[in-house]
Amino acid sequence: MKKLWIGTNWKMTKTIAEGIAFTTRLKQISETLPSAIQLFIIPSHTALVPIKEFTSDSSIYLGAQNMHWEDGGAYTGEISPRMLAEMGLDLIELGHSERRQYFNETDEAINKKVHAALAYALKPLICIGENADHKHYHISKETLASQLKISLHGVSKQQAKNVLIAYEPVWAIGEQGVPADAAYVAEIHDFLRQTLIGLFEEVGLEIPILYGGSVNHDNFLEYSKLENVDGLFIGRAAWDIEQFKEILTQLGAQAAQKKSYIG
Ligand code: 13P
Repeated sequence: MKKLWIGTNWKMTKTIAEGIAFTTRLKQISETLPSAIQLFIIPSHTALVPIKEFTSDSSIYLGAQNMHWEDGGAYTGEISPRMLAEMGLDLIELGHSERRQYFNETDEAINKKVHAALAYALKPLICIGENADHKHYHISKETLASQLKISLHGVSKQQAKNVLIAYEPVWAIGEQGVPADAAYVAEIHDFLRQTLIGLFEEVGLEIPILYGGSVNHDNFLEYSKLENVDGLFIGRAAWDIEQFKEILTQLGAQAAQKKSYIG
């Protein structure tokens, strides 16, 4: 059964107490959704252990926002894949544009992290996205192909079955972000699918490609209906659990109707 991946990156917003309150309510909501919806949450590192206690008897996947690629060592302030795997996490978000922009993360570093994640059975959720200049000069596809090819360098077809991609155009993310047109998202996701097929042949068809960047109550249904959009990665519009519930309820109804998400 094809899944629709719906998740939220909390960025640096929620305390442990706030995260637990959110997760407790999300668990209740998740029980009303069709199993075709695969929920996931990406809290701050501090909240992962306490929140794991709440998600472990649910279908909600839990992920971290970043990690180092080394198992351990003299890297003050970092957290290793071995430590995240010990927590029993499902996902690791890698290469978010805020990490690229503020912490100078490169595709080469992300590639090392992807390999480290796969070695520890953490599913890498690799974020890629062109910036406004790339879009202006019509080199979005070149940028995205290069981000994909470098971050997935050396990944085998077998390993690729555990990878997820989030397309998040930099110009669409956050307070200053401008939501992307659905037609543009469709064109880019089709291109990403072809690039993944080029890299992994038939396995490229299975890799979920999520869309993120100013997903909100006005546009989420449009994006989620697109053929090569396998999920949504949401920031601000999902941080209030009752607002997130509105989105989830409608996506649940849509998934229940959509043939490709059943059986
Ligand atoms: P916004 O939905 O707030 O634009 O954030 C998206 C995002 O960065 C998800 O990783």
